Amino acid sequence: MNTWLSIDGLSLTEGGTRIIADVSLTLGAQRTVVLGPNGAGKSTLLRLIHDLLHPSTGVLYWPRPLSQAMVFQRPVMLRTTALTNVIYGLKLKGFKTGEARRRAQESLARVGLEHLALRPARLLSGGEQQRVALARAWALEPELLILDEPTASLDPASSREVERIIGDIAASGARILMTTHNLGQARRIAEDIVFIDRGRIVEQTPVAQFFKLPQTPAAQSFLQEEMP
Ligand SMILES: Nc1ncnc2c1ncn2[C@@H]1O[C@H](COP(=O)(O)OP(=O)(O)O)[C@@H](O)[C@H]1O
Ligand SMILES: [Mg+2]
Repeated sequence: MNTWLSIDGLSLTEGGTRIIADVSLTLGAQRTVVLGPNGAGKSTLLRLIHDLLHPSTGVLYWPRPLSQAMVFQRPVMLRTTALTNVIYGLKLKGFKTGEARRRAQESLARVGLEHLALRPARLLSGGEQQRVALARAWALEPELLILDEPTASLDPASSREVERIIGDIAASGARILMTTHNLGQARRIAEDIVFIDRGRIVEQTPVAQFFKLPQTPAAQSFLQEEMP
């Protein structure tokens, strides 16, 4: 396994509650899906990894720093066109206008939205907005793409389209770290499953094994509830 992140003794306490409790984890798979019940701490763990939150204790050790981008359940669109939304992300990273525009157009084409590039982003459907968010992230060519329930607000057809794009981004070489409520999606995307419950890592298992024979009672009862 080619470790790209080691997490050691990570905790996050907010208002006296331990949201993340002494998490130690080695990530090496290209595609990891974090599963767990509502409130388990999945979003918090991803935000810690993306440096949007600072841990109370513990360290994240990156053997080599990776460029990263993150996509959320609800895409945050600026009040401008889809194209300018993608350009904006590139300019934040220091790309000059011409190059940013070229990359943004290319990225929108890769998610199948070139025909909507000049539409106001906020008037697009939820699925289209999420594809703009994916284009904005992919345009940066991140080495690590983090996605927090990227299809949770979408209808089945949009969800499949977004899943296909995530597959394309993975195929282009980016590492994928994501959460989802859709177990079929987890199964299709993941190499490794990390199962968390009440802020703790319960198990980390190759995907086929996780769905066939989860190692822990907590994961077994989670799967039974989600896949009756
Ligand atoms: N800023 C915060 N202050 C206090 N509690 C929080 C905060 N953020 C999240 N929580 C709590 O931490 C737990 C984990 O939240 P979250 O990471 O969003 O879980 P998940 O994504 O697995 O549903 C939940 O009980 C949530 O209510
Ligand atoms: Mg969450």
